[in-house]
Amino acid sequence: MPCDALTDLAVRAADVLEDAYLPTPTRRLPRLFPGASAQIHAKLDNLQLAGSVKERTAAALLSGLIRDGLLTDGGTVVESTSGNLGIALARHCALLGIDFIAVVDERANEAACQTMTAYGARLDRVATPPDGNRLAARVRRVRELLESIPGGVTTNQYGNPDNPGVHQRTTFPELVDALGHAPTHLYVAMSTTGTLLGVQRAIEEGGHRTLLVGVDVEGSALFGGETGNRLLPGLGAGFETELSRSARPDAVHRIPESEIVLGSRLLARREGILAGASTGAIVAAIGRDLPLLDADAVVAFIVHDTGLPYLPTVFDDGWVHANLGDEGLDPDRLAADDPFAAA
Ligand SMILES: Cc1ncc(COP(=O)(O)O)c(C=O)c1O
Repeated sequence: MPCDALTDLAVRAADVLEDAYLPTPTRRLPRLFPGASAQIHAKLDNLQLAGSVKERTAAALLSGLIRDGLLTDGGTVVESTSGNLGIALARHCALLGIDFIAVVDERANEAACQTMTAYGARLDRVATPPDGNRLAARVRRVRELLESIPGGVTTNQYGNPDNPGVHQRTTFPELVDALGHAPTHLYVAMSTTGTLLGVQRAIEEGGHRTLLVGVDVEGSALFGGETGNRLLPGLGAGFETELSRSARPDAVHRIPESEIVLGSRLLARREGILAGASTGAIVAAIGRDLPLLDADAVVAFIVHDTGLPYLPTVFDDGWVHANLGDEGLDPDRLAADDPFAAA
């Protein structure tokens, strides 16, 4: 489309979505696993303006819809979200003057729902279906809404190539810039697998030898996993997503939720980083792999979101005790140099 044919919305989008691409810092974490000889670095995407890595995903998805003429002024964006994408879409849609409906389920984080509402989003809550697959139920509801809303369009985070595209263009190159070279190992948490697929393509494109580790939760269906009940949002999926069919991580970890609690708490107490459940799962995955890492390994991971919305769950002893048991609260493991050694 020639420049003079840009719609008003496209012009506004170019302006307001720019902040989503502010680079985030990468920091070395020397205290996370005392005694480990490998270097461990965290890319702090919790510092993106919406509080998660999805700030960028949402901007890319909306830009793509506007670029393709699918979203125009007066249109409505509809998306299934467990929280973070919804927060970022709600923020961007507020700035763009576009209506946004977030389809959430009963496990959605209440703070995330309140944040979306604060940005002016409408919430559509889906009950848990008899088969327990909340994600599939949300996706069905998105389809229903699209049929009934004129000008309605979905960002389709589970299959949209703009999702991995933005992580290929920005997330991995930023990490390489910060470190001065590609990491030897990169740990990425997975749900749509958009982040993982994007960095995978950047690794392939640059000819890097980075070993890519996908981090999932027990009970998720990704990469042949067996579905089961999960309580913590942000991580895992109830079905193999369209994007995941192209994703080829070198290794996959499936972390039990009790270990996620331990990982999240270690990161907060040892490195002062309050992050969400998916990042806690990554910490646990790195902890499990520590004995296998060479002394000169340069390990990087993404801090996917802030831990504030997880204060009533992951960081609340009573909630953990009642829902996940006491394993993740074990003071001996919290104090150990190698808390995941026995896992
Ligand atoms: C906190 C958090 N971590 C990890 C992910 C996984 O990202 P992706 O959907 O790119 O696989 C998400 C996705 O919603 C998330 O919210």
